[in-house]
Amino acid sequence: MGLFGNQKQEKEKLPAPRHIAIIMDGNGRWAKKRALPRTAGHAAGAETFRRIANYCRTLGVEYLTVYAFSTENWRRSQEEVSGIMKLLHSYLLEALQDMEKNHVRFRFFGDLTRLSPELQELCRKAEQISSQYHEVQVNFCLNYGGRDEIVRAARAFAQEVADGKRQPQELTEEAFGKYLYSAEVPDPELIIRPSGEMRTSNFLLWQSAYSEFVFMDVLWPDFGEKDLDAAIAEYHRRNRRFGGV
Ligand code: IPE
Ligand code: IPE
Ligand code: MG
Repeated sequence: MGLFGNQKQEKEKLPAPRHIAIIMDGNGRWAKKRALPRTAGHAAGAETFRRIANYCRTLGVEYLTVYAFSTENWRRSQEEVSGIMKLLHSYLLEALQDMEKNHVRFRFFGDLTRLSPELQELCRKAEQISSQYHEVQVNFCLNYGGRDEIVRAARAFAQEVADGKRQPQELTEEAFGKYLYSAEVPDPELIIRPSGEMRTSNFLLWQSAYSEFVFMDVLWPDFGEKDLDAAIAEYHRRNRRFGGV
């Protein structure tokens, strides 16, 4: 072997960003293409999530934030919504069982009070039990909306002012971030949206100010490890200026 190692060996991959966020989109279209019910697409999407979360852990990603259900997704049929809730339920049961093996830390972003009491309890348990783990933190966005998150944060701060605990001028960008679901979590460097749509659909509006967006044509159930590699490679080709030169 020469000084620079085996030429045939794959070039060393650039490190993954600390925080990757994904809008898990395209489940319905994936199902439609196969003449399956939309719920089958969500089941396939849940499988992809398991695989990609695992891959993120092996890549050393510290935070993985996934958009699983938006504040607008309640507009879908009762059948589809309850199908998604069932899948979440079984995923969380399984995650609780595998916790000691997987060492994933869970957090939930969103207004959980609209979920069933059982689901709320599973979320609470997963968050509590996994708080001892530090390998990869998965932030699950459930009944999450970026605007809703900002409004809630503003309301919480306003309440503290009304209670005489704070002064309006104490509100800085940094202080405001502490009222968001994402308090303590650094902003995502990379946001990936599969399925070909090129919009945020109300995802991480505050936190994405300087995120790099990678939009991909693949549907979420078909999204593989190589697609994540491609998104990370694209991220490394970007020139992040943060308003400077
Ligand atoms: C994303 O896939 C999952 C959720 C929004 C819950 P979709 O269900 O939006 O799939 P498409 O966009 O209809 O293909
Ligand atoms: C965004 O996808 C929400 C999730 C992936 C959970 P949608 O499918 O709901 O977004 P739109 O309706 O295409 O904008
Ligand atoms: Mg969609």
